[in-house]
Amino acid sequence: MDSLNLTTATALCYLVIVLRALPFSYAQLDPSFYNGTCSNVHSIITQVLTNVSASDPRILGSLIRLHFHDCFVQGCDASILLNDTATIVSEQGAAPNNNSIRGLDVVNQIKTTVENACPGIVSCADILALAAEISSVLSNGPDWEVPLGRRDSLTANQTLANQNLPAPTLTLEQLKSAFANQGLNTTDLVALSGAHTIGRAKCSLFIGRLYNFNSTGNPDPTLNTTLLQTLQALCPNNGPGTNLTNLDLTTPDTFDNNYYSNLQSQNGLLQTDQELFSTSGADTIAIVNNFISNQTLFFEIFKASMIKMGNIGVLTGSQGEIRTQCNFVNGNSSSSGLAAIATEESSEINLVSSI
Ligand code: HEM
Ligand SMILES: *[C@@H]1O[C@H](CO)[C@@H](O)[C@H](O)[C@H]1NC(C)=O
Ligand SMILES: *[C@@H]1O[C@H](CO)[C@@H](O)[C@H](O)[C@H]1NC(C)=O
Ligand SMILES: *[C@@H]1O[C@H](CO)[C@@H](O)[C@H](O)[C@H]1NC(C)=O
Ligand SMILES: *[C@@H]1O[C@H](CO)[C@@H](O)[C@H](O)[C@H]1NC(C)=O
Ligand SMILES: *[C@@H]1O[C@H](CO)[C@@H](O)[C@H](O)[C@H]1NC(C)=O
Ligand SMILES: *[C@@H]1O[C@H](CO)[C@@H](O)[C@H](O)[C@H]1NC(C)=O
Ligand SMILES: *[C@@H]1O[C@H](CO)[C@@H](O)[C@H](O)[C@H]1NC(C)=O
Ligand SMILES: *[C@@H]1O[C@H](CO)[C@@H](O)[C@H](O)[C@H]1NC(C)=O
Ligand SMILES: *[C@@H]1O[C@H](CO)[C@@H](O)[C@H](O)[C@H]1NC(C)=O
Ligand SMILES: *[C@@H]1O[C@H](CO)[C@@H](O)[C@H](O)[C@H]1NC(C)=O
Ligand SMILES: *[C@@H]1O[C@H](CO)[C@@H](O)[C@H](O)[C@H]1NC(C)=O
Repeated sequence: MDSLNLTTATALCYLVIVLRALPFSYAQLDPSFYNGTCSNVHSIITQVLTNVSASDPRILGSLIRLHFHDCFVQGCDASILLNDTATIVSEQGAAPNNNSIRGLDVVNQIKTTVENACPGIVSCADILALAAEISSVLSNGPDWEVPLGRRDSLTANQTLANQNLPAPTLTLEQLKSAFANQGLNTTDLVALSGAHTIGRAKCSLFIGRLYNFNSTGNPDPTLNTTLLQTLQALCPNNGPGTNLTNLDLTTPDTFDNNYYSNLQSQNGLLQTDQELFSTSGADTIAIVNNFISNQTLFFEIFKASMIKMGNIGVLTGSQGEIRTQCNFVNGNSSSSGLAAIATEESSEINLVSSI
C-alpha cells in the first residue's frame, strides 16, 4: 500500500467512524416509530391495562413507577426487568425495588400480547414508557405522544439502582441533586413527584415521621396531626411496617393536582413529598402553589417532564436489542454477544458500500 492509499484508507476509516457515530449520538426517539411495523401497539396496551386495572386499580401507579425506576438506572432501557441469572444481578433486588415494585407480571402479559401481534418489533423499554402514559390516561390524567424507538439493555446494575433511586428520607437538597444527576431540574422534580397523586406506600417507608423523626423523639412537625393519628394507628411503632396507605389522601386513584393541595394542609405522606412545600425558603414552594392554582399547568409540565425522563440514557439504532422475553436477554449465553457483533459488522459494511 503506498502512502496516498494509506492516507485515503485512514480518511475512509475516520469517515466510517464519524458516520457510524452520528446515528447513535443524534438518534431521536419518535412517536411514529412503530407506524407501519406495529401501529396498534398503543391500543393493545390500553386494552390489557383496561382489563387488569378493573380488578387492580393500583396497577396504574405501579406501572408509572416502574418506568421511573427503569429510567434512573443506566437510562430507560428495561434494565429493571432483567431477572437474576448467572450473569445478571437483578435491579429488582435493590433496596428501593425489593418487595416494592409491582407490575412485572403485567409487563410480561403486555409483551406476550404485543409479540403475538408484531413479533420482534417492540422493545420492553418502549412498553414501559407506553404503559406509563396509558396509566396516566386511565386514571384521568394527561395523555401525550410517547417518543419511541428505545432498545433494551444487555445488562443491569443493582449497585447503581441503590445509588440512583431516591429514598423517601432524603432532604430536599439531596432530592434535587438525585434528579440533577439525571438531567432533571427542580421543576421536573416537583412535577414528577405529582405522580404520587395515585398509588400506595407501605408504613416502613414513612414510619420515621411518626414517632421519632430525625432522632428528635417527636413526630415530624410538618405532618398534619389528624393524619398523624390515622397513620400511628395503621403503623404501630416497631411493627413490621407492611400495611399500605394511599399516597394521595383525598383522591387516591385519580390523577389530579390534589397531591399538591394535600401538601398545603400538611397531608403529604412521604417526608420527600412534604418537603417540597414545607422546607422554609425553598424554590419548590412557588411551583407547588402554581400547580395547586392551575391543574392544566401541572398536566402540561408533567407531560414535558415525563418525556424528558423518558429520554434519559436511551439505547437506539443498533445498540442493545429488542428482547423476546423482557426478563432475560436474548439467547442469554455467549450467542447474544455474537449476534450483536454480527449486526454491527453488517451495518458497517452497508455504510462503506454506500460511500
Ligand atoms: C422524588 C423522589 C421520589 C421518592 C423518594 C419516591 C418514593 C416512593 C416510595 C417510598 C413509594 C412507596 C413504595 C412502597 O410502598 O413500596 C413510592 C410509590 C410510588 N411512586 Fe414514588 N418516589 C419518588 C418519585 C417518583 C416519581 C418521579 C414517580 C413517577 C413519575 C413516582 C411514582 C410513584 C408511584 C405511582 C407510586 C405508587 C406505586 C404503587 O402503588 O405501586 N415516584 N414512591
Ligand atoms: C403515526 O400514526 C399515528 C396514529 O395513527 C398518527 O397520529 C401519526 O400522524 C402517524 N405518524 C406518521 C409519521 O405517519
Ligand atoms: C380483556 O378481557 C376481556 C373479558 O375478560 C377478554 O375478552 C379480552 O380478551 C381481554 N383483552 C385483553 C387484551 O386482555
Ligand atoms: C422474574 O422475577 C420475578 C420476581 O422478581 C418473577 O415474578 C418472575 O416470575 C420472573 N420471571 C421469569 C420469567 O422467571
Ligand atoms: C436464560 O434464560 C432463561 C429463560 O429464557 C432462564 O430460565 C435461565 O435461567 C437463563 N440462564 C442464564 C444462565 O442466564
Ligand atoms: C429481598 O427481600 C427478601 C425478603 O422478602 C430477602 O430475602 C432478600 O434477601 C432481599 N433481596 C436482596 C437482594 O436484598
Ligand atoms: C454499576 O454501577 C456502579 C456504580 O456507578 C459502577 O461502579 C459499575 O462499574 C457498574 N457496573 C457495571 C457492570 O456496569
Ligand atoms: C427545567 O427545564 C425546563 C426544560 O426542560 C425549563 O423549561 C424550565 O424552565 C427549567 N426549570 C428550572 C427551575 O430551571
Ligand atoms: C435532620 O437533622 C439533620 C441534622 O441533625 C439536618 O441536617 C436535616 O436537615 C434534618 N432533616 C429534616 C428533614 O429536618
Ligand atoms: C395494620 O393496621 C391495623 C389497624 O388498621 C393494625 O391493627 C395492625 O397492627 C397493622 N398491621 C401491621 C402489620 O402493621
Ligand atoms: C389537616 O388536614 C385537615 C384535612 O384533613 C385540614 O382541614 C386541616 O386544616 C389540616 N391542618 C393543617 C395545620 O394544615
Ligand atoms: C393555566 O395554565 C395553562 C397552561 O400553561 C395556561 O394556558 C392557562 O392560561 C392557565 N390558566 C390560568 C387561569 O392562569
